[in-house]
Amino acid sequence: MKHQLLLTVLLTMLTTSRSFNVASRRVVFNDLMTIQMKMKSTTDASSEAKGLDSISTPGNNDGDNGSDNGGEARRKKKPVNSSRFRQHVNPLASRYQQPRVPSPSVDTSWLTSNLSSPSNPYHLDIGCAKGTFCLSMSPLNPSVNYLGLEIRDPVVEYALDRRNRRKLDNCHFVSCNANVDLERVLEGMNAVGGLLKTVTIQFPDPHFKEKHKKRRVVVPELVRLIGESMEKEEGVVYLASDVKEVLDEMREEFNNCDMFEDTVEGDGYLEENVNEVPTERELSVLKDDKPVWRASFRLRR
Ligand SMILES: C[S@@+](CC[C@H](N)C(=O)[O-])C[C@H]1O[C@@H](n2cnc3c(N)ncnc32)[C@H](O)[C@@H]1O
Repeated sequence: MKHQLLLTVLLTMLTTSRSFNVASRRVVFNDLMTIQMKMKSTTDASSEAKGLDSISTPGNNDGDNGSDNGGEARRKKKPVNSSRFRQHVNPLASRYQQPRVPSPSVDTSWLTSNLSSPSNPYHLDIGCAKGTFCLSMSPLNPSVNYLGLEIRDPVVEYALDRRNRRKLDNCHFVSCNANVDLERVLEGMNAVGGLLKTVTIQFPDPHFKEKHKKRRVVVPELVRLIGESMEKEEGVVYLASDVKEVLDEMREEFNNCDMFEDTVEGDGYLEENVNEVPTERELSVLKDDKPVWRASFRLRR
C-alpha cells in the first residue's frame, strides 16, 4: 500500500517535472506503471492463495460502529489480520471435532479468570463471530454474563481483543465447535454456580447444499442440552436467519423437543428482534432491505 502511494507520487512528479523531455517521460512512466501493475497482481494472488475473504460487515475496521473506547484504541497496534478471516470452516473436519473446552472436574478457570462474577446468570450466543452482539449487550446488563461460542480461532482472538480494550468483565468468548463442546460449556457454568438464562442462535451459516446440511449447528442433541440446562422460569431461546429455510429448520428442531414451546402460535414469525441490539449480520441484511426470519422458544412449565 505504502509502495503504491510512493509510485503514485513519483508518477505525479514525473508528469509535472521540466527536467524530462516528453520521450524520456514516457519511458519512465511506462516502467513505473509496469511495476505498479506487477505489485497489484502479487498482492491479489497472495490473498487468494491464503484463501482469505474480507467479511464485509458494518464497522469492519474495528468490528463495530464506533462505540469502542474512542480513537485511542484505534490508534494502538491492531492484531494481525484483524478484519480478514476465513469466512467458513467445515465443522465436521477432524480438527473441529476435538474437544477444546476442559471438563469442569479438570478446570473452570476459563470462566473464573475471565468473568468478575462467574456465578451470575448467563446468556449464551452460539456462533458469535466477532462478538458484536455480546459486546453491545454486556454493558446494558451488567448482572448477566455474556458468553459467545465461535468455531474460528482467529475470530475469537479478535473478539477477545475487543472485549479487553473495552475492559468488560461480564463478557467472554470461547473458541469451540458448539456441537462438540456445548455440554462441557454448560457443565462449566453449573460448576461455578451460574444458570443459563437465555440463548441466541442468530444467522448461523446456512450450508445450502443438501450434502452440507449435516454441518448445521441446530441439531436435536444441541436443543436437548440447552433445554436441560436452562433456567425453568425465565429461559428463552431466540433464533434468527435471513434464510427462511434455515429458520424453519431450526424452529422445527425446537418444536420437536418436548421441553420447548414456540412463543408464536400458528405459522407466523416473530415480528421483531426481542433483544436490545442487532447482530453484525442482521445490520448488513437490513441495510440491503432483505427480510429477517425470527422465532423464539420458552421452556414448558
Ligand atoms: C453468519 S455468522 C453470524 C454471526 C453472528 N451471529 C451475527 O449474526 O452477526 C455464523 C457464525 O457461526 C459460526 N459457527 C458456525 N458453526 C459453528 C459451530 N458448530 N460452533 C460454533 N460456531 C459456529 C461461524 O464461524 C460464524 O462466525
